Amino acid sequence: MTDARPLLYGKLAGWFHLLTAPADYEPEAALAAKLIRENATGEVQSLLELGSGGGNNASHLKQWFACTLSDLSPEMLALSRTLNPECEHILGDMRTMRLGRTFDGVYVHDAIMYMTTEADLAATFETAFVHTRPGGVAVFVPDCVRESFEPETSHGGHDGEARALRYLMWVTDPNPKDSAYDVDFAIVLHEEGQPSRAVHDHHVFGLFPRETWLRLLRSAGFEATSFAPSGLHGSRCQEVFVARKPL
Ligand SMILES: C[S@@+](CC[C@H](N)C(=O)[O-])C[C@H]1O[C@@H](n2cnc3c(N)ncnc32)[C@H](O)[C@@H]1O
Repeated sequence: MTDARPLLYGKLAGWFHLLTAPADYEPEAALAAKLIRENATGEVQSLLELGSGGGNNASHLKQWFACTLSDLSPEMLALSRTLNPECEHILGDMRTMRLGRTFDGVYVHDAIMYMTTEADLAATFETAFVHTRPGGVAVFVPDCVRESFEPETSHGGHDGEARALRYLMWVTDPNPKDSAYDVDFAIVLHEEGQPSRAVHDHHVFGLFPRETWLRLLRSAGFEATSFAPSGLHGSRCQEVFVARKPL
């Protein structure tokens, strides 16, 4: 059977920290922690992250909260365990996972971009809602909403020990009328003693108007607001949604 997942979360998962370094996530993690603390009723000790990926955000969040990290990809969970061995890791789809317990906070960072239909987005909000305790807060940090989307190209990457990665990321929206856009990565991988390799990795991201986000969050039962963050140096994030579960 072929693996239809993006290479970055399967065969190339072990390279993820050279694509995007854990240290760069501190501002977003700090903002999420502040928003959850400020908007929750009562103490905030436990946090569930949906789509926690390489555990980059969690490597900062864990200094403030007891973190439970969940992701669809076993390979990404394995990578995250190397960075965050003290955190609980759970394999699960953010649309359907049910742990049978609640948390003071729920966090969904850029992994929410993989929800490409309203039904998938609504299912993720339902998962977040059932795992948030009354008075707790869920924070969602998409790269953008329809209103702030812009086609772009960017590049980056890092040097590791005996290996290095560089990428070009190309963001396009072939059909502005649907709820998705394309993100193509051209990635060059260097490993000491081996010929360089170039790979292409295609991702499809969801794109919804702000009002759709707010409507679906409220339908799930949350009190929801959104704002455009400032001062998140190096972040692609254009919009943050704060969703409080009523007491
Ligand atoms: C860009 S990475 C997230 C990186 C993360 N923000 C961090 O701090 O390391 C996106 C992740 O979303 C996960 N993902 C995609 N669809 C998912 C789903 N339906 N449920 C759970 N995780 C999903 C992928 O497996 C991948 O690990």
